[in-house]
Amino acid sequence: MTSSLVTGGQGFIGGHLVRALLERGDEVTVLDLRGAPGRALDVHGLTEEVRLVEGDVADPAAVHRAVREAGSSSGPDSIFHLAAQTLVGPAAEDPVATFRANVEGTWTILEAARETGVGAVVVASSDKAYGPSESLPYRESDELRPAAPYEASKAAADVISRSYWPAFGVPVGVTRLANVYGGGDMNGSRLVPETVNACLEGRSPQIRSDGSPQRDYLHVSDAAAAYLAIEGAVLEGSGRGEALNAGTGEPHSVREVIELITAEVARTGVEPVEAEYLGEGVPEGEIDRQFVDASRLTELTGWRPRVDLADGISEAVGWYRSHHRG
Ligand SMILES: NC(=O)c1ccc[n+]([C@@H]2O[C@H](COP(=O)([O-])OP(=O)(O)OC[C@H]3O[C@@H](n4cnc5c(N)ncnc54)[C@H](O)[C@@H]3O)[C@@H](O)[C@H]2O)c1
Repeated sequence: MTSSLVTGGQGFIGGHLVRALLERGDEVTVLDLRGAPGRALDVHGLTEEVRLVEGDVADPAAVHRAVREAGSSSGPDSIFHLAAQTLVGPAAEDPVATFRANVEGTWTILEAARETGVGAVVVASSDKAYGPSESLPYRESDELRPAAPYEASKAAADVISRSYWPAFGVPVGVTRLANVYGGGDMNGSRLVPETVNACLEGRSPQIRSDGSPQRDYLHVSDAAAAYLAIEGAVLEGSGRGEALNAGTGEPHSVREVIELITAEVARTGVEPVEAEYLGEGVPEGEIDRQFVDASRLTELTGWRPRVDLADGISEAVGWYRSHHRG
């Protein structure tokens, strides 16, 4: 049986990835913080199906414990490293804590992989690692020009991870995913969960921008599939030491997303509410327009996004509605 270790498996994307790994028959170990806020394993009803190791990914002792649990002396077959401090605001307030989790956490995982010998390590970078750019869509050959702490933490983790293939022969693939959304995101401050929950409660969604920022919205099921595709490529010997974009290639404004959500919520019979746009332009420290070219990933693995934005928003609204605690 294939053994996989997922760091950050209590988080939004991690929870969906764990489910996909269990569905394909893997034995799954999760490393995440004690009291992790997302509790994705509980939310998805998977707590009994995985081994859970509680600890900090930047703590070598916790990582060694997780690696041992996952695969005895030889380590797991695959490691998916998603654990990170993922919120842009807290990263700007406390960059050092974010660098510790996101950068030190990454080299701690890579060192464990180097010592034990693992079939594939897939590391979560982000399209945020590119930083603000006039030249869009982002391509993997573009320079990484982070301009804020979260972006810098992802860029640093990305660069360090890729170096472990030529330097030490650790088979690493790096993911640069676009904005991921869908049911099961317990980070209440993110656009989609915050807007859906506000609409369900009859509150006006408070939007920090004027609605103009544009993002490439990737449904979480397509995100989990991208992780598996990159793992497959790395196991087969391609994509090692590379970073690969995953997204739809289509930018959508915040306003478009809000309008889709409010229309979808209204269809469920809930009294419609109007969003309030509080900002002018883009909130400080955020990028105004982002979308990615994922053609390299498609060429290498055949991966393509399957869920369009309208269907994805409809899935997300259905999910938050059925899990809403009021
Ligand atoms: N959500 C997105 O739109 C998006 C887009 C591109 C890339 N990513 C990346 O994908 C990964 C997963 O993102 P997500 O949206 O699921 O985030 P999330 O915040 O929902 O999950 C992150 C998980 O990491 C855990 N974690 C944080 N610090 C840790 C530490 N020091 N030790 C152990 N665990 C720790 C958290 O408890 C949480 O369960 C992250 O690396 C993120 O940067 C996310």
